[in-house]
Amino acid sequence: MPEIKTIGVLTAGGDAPGMNACIRAVTRVARHHDIRVLGVEHGFTGLMAGDYTELIRSSVSNIIQRGGTILKSARTPEFHTPEGRKKAYDCMRAAGMDGLVVIGGDGTASAGGIFCAEFDIPVVGCPGTIDNDLFGTDHTIGFDTAINTALESIDKIRDTADAFERTFYIEVMGRTSGFIALDVGLSCGAEFIAIPENQTSLDELLKIFKNQRSTKRSNMIIVAEGDDAGGAFKLAEKVKEHTGIDYRVAILGHVQRGGSPTARDRILASKLGAAAVEALVNGQSNIMTGEVNGKLSLTPFTEAAEKKKPVDTILFELTKVLAE
Ligand code: F6P
Repeated sequence: MPEIKTIGVLTAGGDAPGMNACIRAVTRVARHHDIRVLGVEHGFTGLMAGDYTELIRSSVSNIIQRGGTILKSARTPEFHTPEGRKKAYDCMRAAGMDGLVVIGGDGTASAGGIFCAEFDIPVVGCPGTIDNDLFGTDHTIGFDTAINTALESIDKIRDTADAFERTFYIEVMGRTSGFIALDVGLSCGAEFIAIPENQTSLDELLKIFKNQRSTKRSNMIIVAEGDDAGGAFKLAEKVKEHTGIDYRVAILGHVQRGGSPTARDRILASKLGAAAVEALVNGQSNIMTGEVNGKLSLTPFTEAAEKKKPVDTILFELTKVLAE
């Protein structure tokens, strides 16, 4: 088992609150093992450009509470080409890198799997994305913060929806998944949640409006951006065509990507960052760290990226009962 003397760490894809806590844990645990750490700027773009800066213990002081990523992030289509990956490999070898920790979502996991299949530098991942759509972990780093940030905004919208007796359609992030919408929908007391994992039934939504108590005047409808109804505006218009119910729409957007990470995200990020370094030290590679039922889990990159994590449909059904 080759000794690990120098590792790189990078953040890629959509940034997520908690990525800095993860970078901090990777750096501090690696230094604890006398392993040199190279911070890679701008994700896989920087990996191919040799954009590396040494990180020492003090480099990651005072960042655990910060959103975003001190290493910046990027989406790098070029890394999905053999030439791009070879360029990265050559830069890594030239810098003396014996291992790499990648912090990101499903795109990062899939890129890590392809790289490991072609080259002999071990790579271990940490699931950093607000979407929570990675298989092999109950929660991804950033998800808890994102749902609490969204909830804070939605509670404010509820005040004006009640005051003006209006129906609001609120669109949340999640790309092609509905994890954010489901958790936020239940916790904000939504009347209905539209998620990509469930065919959105207009009839079901119309029935909810039809069967409401006559005294009920305001509604909160949570719509995942990837929903098959085509997003909040389209769904709102469809309902209005059938019911005449006026509406307002709020697209929460990138506010869900920022903010100081919650304690839960900081703890998860610290545990998984540490686990990634330990895995490299133990000679492991081509895996994404995660936590399942409170226990550390190690999932092959391709499985983490490709296997579909099921949504908790109980939340979906419970929302309907609780909202009646
Ligand atoms: O993957 C995280 C995410 O925030 C998704 O929820 C969202 O659809 C996407 O990134 C937005 O990408 P960008 O920041 O490139 O607009």
